[in-house]
Amino acid sequence: MNSIIRPRRLRRTEAIRQMVSENKLSPEDFIYPIFVHDKDFKEEISAMPGIFRWDIKGLIEEVKRAWELGIRCIVLFPKVDDNLKTEDGAECFNEAGLIPRVIRKLKKEVPQMAIMTDVALDPYSCDGHDGLVDQDGNILNDETIAILEKQALTQADAGADFIGPSDMMDGRVGAIRKSLDKNGFIDVGIISYTAKYSSAYYGPFRSALDSAPRLNSNKLIPKNKSSYQMDPANAKEAYLESSLDQFEGADILMVKPGLSYLDIIYRLNNFSNKPIAAYNVSGEFSMIKAASMKGWINEKDVVLETLLSFKRAGAKLILSYHACDAANWLKEN
Ligand code: PBG
Repeated sequence: MNSIIRPRRLRRTEAIRQMVSENKLSPEDFIYPIFVHDKDFKEEISAMPGIFRWDIKGLIEEVKRAWELGIRCIVLFPKVDDNLKTEDGAECFNEAGLIPRVIRKLKKEVPQMAIMTDVALDPYSCDGHDGLVDQDGNILNDETIAILEKQALTQADAGADFIGPSDMMDGRVGAIRKSLDKNGFIDVGIISYTAKYSSAYYGPFRSALDSAPRLNSNKLIPKNKSSYQMDPANAKEAYLESSLDQFEGADILMVKPGLSYLDIIYRLNNFSNKPIAAYNVSGEFSMIKAASMKGWINEKDVVLETLLSFKRAGAKLILSYHACDAANWLKEN
């Protein structure tokens, strides 16, 4: 062979490979999703080994541990008691509810950690949808937004740094931005679930919170969320959603799920001047966990390669249940 161009020269030693490496993971890239419940013990989520529904005390310790590992932001998800779930999900703006209590406690005990919240009705709704469901099974857009605004204000008032609308109602980012500003929360940011697809990868999350759409004898309940979450077949539509969210005041744009949607991360990072976040969702976590528990793949290597792929695609931030493990492994490396 007589080639003057030999790409392998730059792969020859560890030192050279590190010199020319284009992307690097660090713990500050991670946002760590944490489940919490109103009990005094922690409970492992069956489809997500190593991930728990935390009691408040245990959660504080877990967040301190995450901070020590270099993680700078967490996102909170509540497992709400069945008897607090209603058709309008009003528990979501109860100032004395689980999430506001957790935020206040965290801001006292670990004030340096940034806190992101989730805005949507599903954990609070007996129907298990992100918005209000009418008699015929329609998800009501504008009526839902009025409740989401109250939810966001309650979270901001408790001390949240970032509000995370995950509901996919039209116009919700703008409405939330306006009510935050009107109430003096001009510095509270919005990490918007911008391109959130109607995905089967959310299964373990829904069982963790018992938040899947459920039958209601009074009315029709759509079995899936496809009338508001995006069609997995669509990419162009992600440009529309990101234009809207950016125009309406989102600070960071999220793509969700991450792994099957790396092309969307890539496109939005080229299209937008906002930072992009990728959500490495529950089903993606469970697949890697299951295969590694079977001994079929090497967990550490597969996790780090997966997380790196989000950065290569263009994400600055990665929401991942692997966050603490990965931060630990990065330290070791
Ligand atoms: C709630 C919400 C969901 C997730 C984050 N926020 C589930 C859904 O939309 O049904 C999924 C996260 C995951 O699967 O890890 N609106």
